[in-house]
Amino acid sequence: MCGIVGYIGAQEKKKILLDGLQELEYRGYDSAGIAVISDGKLQHFKAVGKLKNLREKAADFRSEGPGAAIGHTRWATHGKPTELNAHPHVGAFSYVVHNGIIENYRELKEELEAEGVRFLSQTDTETVVHLFEQKIKEGLEPFDAFKATIDRLEGAYAILLISEAAPETIFFAKNGSPLLIAFGAEEIYFASSDTAVIGHAKEAYYLEDGEYGYACPGEVKLFGPEGEKTISTKPLPADKAMAQKDGYRFFMEKEIYEQSTVISDTMLGRVLEDRVEFEELDPSLFEGIDAIKICACGTSYHAGLAGAYLLERMAKIPCQVEIASEFRYKDPLLSPRTLFVTISQSGETADTLEALKMAKRAGLKSLSICNVDNSSIVRESDAAILTRAGIEKGVASTKAFATQVMVLWMLTLYLGRRNGAMTPEAIAHELEAMRHAPRALLVGERLHERIHRLSKRYLHGHGFFFIGRDLFFPLALEGALKLKEISYLHAEGYPAGEMKHGPIALADAELFTIALMPKTLLYDKIKSNVEELSARDATILAISPEAFELADDFIRTEEADHPMLEFFEMMVVTQLLALEISIRLGNDVDMPRNLAKSVTVE
Ligand code: M6R
Repeated sequence: MCGIVGYIGAQEKKKILLDGLQELEYRGYDSAGIAVISDGKLQHFKAVGKLKNLREKAADFRSEGPGAAIGHTRWATHGKPTELNAHPHVGAFSYVVHNGIIENYRELKEELEAEGVRFLSQTDTETVVHLFEQKIKEGLEPFDAFKATIDRLEGAYAILLISEAAPETIFFAKNGSPLLIAFGAEEIYFASSDTAVIGHAKEAYYLEDGEYGYACPGEVKLFGPEGEKTISTKPLPADKAMAQKDGYRFFMEKEIYEQSTVISDTMLGRVLEDRVEFEELDPSLFEGIDAIKICACGTSYHAGLAGAYLLERMAKIPCQVEIASEFRYKDPLLSPRTLFVTISQSGETADTLEALKMAKRAGLKSLSICNVDNSSIVRESDAAILTRAGIEKGVASTKAFATQVMVLWMLTLYLGRRNGAMTPEAIAHELEAMRHAPRALLVGERLHERIHRLSKRYLHGHGFFFIGRDLFFPLALEGALKLKEISYLHAEGYPAGEMKHGPIALADAELFTIALMPKTLLYDKIKSNVEELSARDATILAISPEAFELADDFIRTEEADHPMLEFFEMMVVTQLLALEISIRLGNDVDMPRNLAKSVTVE
């Protein structure tokens, strides 16, 4: 995920770009860059790390007067976060910024290299600027060259391109990644999100997939697959804080709604027709490995527990999961044939980081599953898979968890194929289900409204038990953690079959049981467990595709043909339940008491 901005006008361009990028920095911050074309001449600045480094580097640069400019803040996907890999990417006389992934970049790169083009970076994006310039060299007019370029691209993109071949013009295209055009008195702006232009512009047009065009002073031409289109703008919000939350009441709520989109980013370029590939992994990482140990804290630990069910069941790899703070002091017996996998949203959690260092000292190879590139855990690991959830602002983790689980599911298919434990048919079946995951994560308006109404009945009582079996046990743990951290009500996650071994003694009408009852996994077993609780008068909220007559409350989920699709849908239900209870109790959903987003102390 990256942020892009563009500007056409006579104001100080550097300031507009940098201020706009500042608003988008949450989308990625491992490097940033700007390029300005003024008096027909191009200039650029790039810096690794946060935007303040770029501000310092460009401190003496002045860019008033008519011209066009583009800027980018990067979340690395292809190539390390270096200055050469930072955008804008340069050709001989043009610059491009891009958010997304060009899936066929290898093929395009080979073609261009065969024609003598030299590449400076390891990115997919650089192909765009060279392709454009090749088309110009072939004699095409600049806009035709741009159109011919985007016609060759496969994958997701929001692209802005400027060129000395057409000074004062920005060429733009969108497919799968966000892009808007905003209009000021005399100026034209582009951005990934409207927070970057609020205060400068009053109206904006949010591009649809497949749209492209060009803008120059006083003119914007927009095209779609059917030809030229008219631009119908919408008023921009006046309040920046509200806009950052896209109209949602809390970041956590926004992040729950984002899950369907970010999970697609997690899969992008990795979930292929017949297999899963991780370009960032050197297959030698898995040589000599016959077991996996996952180590993490909190929500990330729950993702690890879910992943262990998948890895053992499908990839047939013995997999243990450990809480990092426990692991550190238990004098664990470690074998170099075990791959040490850490999971962390922030990449900075002290216990997880220390556990990783211990494992490394013991000679284990390491892999991290992390949301923040260049974080301490990523840097310390032999290899990393980035979850691509985008910056998560709510302290209660939601979309990071969804993407962690997705990566573990993908890793299962990757390893299952590698070690021959999964047949091509079994992999195809999983891939088919995986492609439906974004839909399972969509938040329906009616569902949210139902949970909102229902939540008023769950503001008291002497505790909650979230219960589930198999994969749904980690989800029960995670549902309980979400509820307790933002509502301050006592909640426990429990394996449903274990209730009768003690906790059932607590059952009475004031004990709220949230029962996860998927149809695709052990339905009859969990049903009996819930019946036992109901017989002891516990209040039951059942979450299931199948009506359950003993439930006091019922949330119906979709019939699905794969447990992971039920998993993701039920995950959304438990997140919304926690959110709505917390809001009703008047708590600060995004910054719950006593917690911090990144736990860098032991
Ligand atoms: O950044 P990490 O994933 O390593 O953080 C681990 C936990 O601190 C974190 O998941 C915590 O449990 C969340 N606040 C839960 O919502």
